[in-house]
Amino acid sequence: MKLRTLRVSMPLCGKRVLMRIDANVPIKKGKAMDGPQGRIARSAVDIDWLMQRGAKIILMTHLGRPEGKFVSAYSVAPVAKRLSELLQTKVKTVRGIVDEKVQKAVARLENGEVLLLENVRFHPLEKKDDSVFAKQLAALGDLYINDAFAVCHRPQTSVHAITKEIPSYAGPLLAQEVNVLSKVMQHPRAPFVLVVGGVKMETKLPVIQRLLPRVQTVLVGGALAHAFLKAKGLEIGRSVYDEEGIVQAARMLKQAGKKIVLPEDLVVVSSLRKDAAKRVVGVSEVGPKDRIVDIGPKTIERFLAAIGEARTIVWNGPLGYCEIKPFAKGTFLIAEAIAKRTGKALTIVGGGDTGPVIEEGGFTDQYTLLSTGGGAMLTFLSGESMPPIEALEI
Ligand code: 3PG
Repeated sequence: MKLRTLRVSMPLCGKRVLMRIDANVPIKKGKAMDGPQGRIARSAVDIDWLMQRGAKIILMTHLGRPEGKFVSAYSVAPVAKRLSELLQTKVKTVRGIVDEKVQKAVARLENGEVLLLENVRFHPLEKKDDSVFAKQLAALGDLYINDAFAVCHRPQTSVHAITKEIPSYAGPLLAQEVNVLSKVMQHPRAPFVLVVGGVKMETKLPVIQRLLPRVQTVLVGGALAHAFLKAKGLEIGRSVYDEEGIVQAARMLKQAGKKIVLPEDLVVVSSLRKDAAKRVVGVSEVGPKDRIVDIGPKTIERFLAAIGEARTIVWNGPLGYCEIKPFAKGTFLIAEAIAKRTGKALTIVGGGDTGPVIEEGGFTDQYTLLSTGGGAMLTFLSGESMPPIEALEI
């Protein structure tokens, strides 16, 4: 896959560059949770490159799922703050996306300055891949750059419809991710082990289904495992799951049960406090009031054995409630084992939720690719169409 990218020789000085990034990171107490290899930090490298060339940069991102209306908790102010620190310059903000206020703010931009628009998902037409909204966005720039790989599995206005309205290019971060993932997809080395956890079942389950013929083993943990355990008729107590997920999980177990490795033991607690007493139980011993927060020691051993033999490893999603440190053991040990396997295996790791564990372990530069995408990375590897990326193909 060859993408239209910016050439170093392209004159960008004074040009209004409309750039879509994916700064969708957790926000805690008004602060963007984004480490040195986080989504915002990695976008900042490319923004800096444009600043050095004297472009007027207009940034767009989504944050969370505000469903087409203003939700203050999803305002991009914390993103602007993080970007300002990284770029060592004030990133301007505006309380709008395409209205007159925004047009005036764009007109006032000096060469090398950066303006961040408000969350594009505050606009009701963002998720509709709408040509009218796309035209309004496109009018803000002379050219458009998509550097938001992590959201390219969603054909939405600011990553897809917009490409029909304005000269459009793949940003360096997006191009690099597509490049490495394409190579893996073309020549995966066997055994190919897929490790999946976390939430967003509605995105991940269909993609895992498509990936099944290509992989030898799927190790399932985290909230995703709850759907499979429930599909097998097991008790998961008060752990999260969704009904639709159970139906899909049951179908998958029927089709490819042998490839799918589920936890055999689990860590459970009665409340999600970090000082809660933990118990290790077998999968059939979870009580109705328990919450599953991690994979157990036997499961970890089984997963590490599979990773130790793999020659291609793709991992997305935590294997437990890893944002609470005492419940992050399984996720940490998997992160470490995959890092150790790099070199002997192609190791592709993606998704925001595991970022803090990976950074804390010092593993960020120890994988073949640390992708910014979770669902997007899996979708790409499954070979499913990704219209926002296809729109940038030469
Ligand atoms: C992600 O975090 O996977 C991307 O930013 C996409 O977010 P979404 O699942 O809310 O579309």
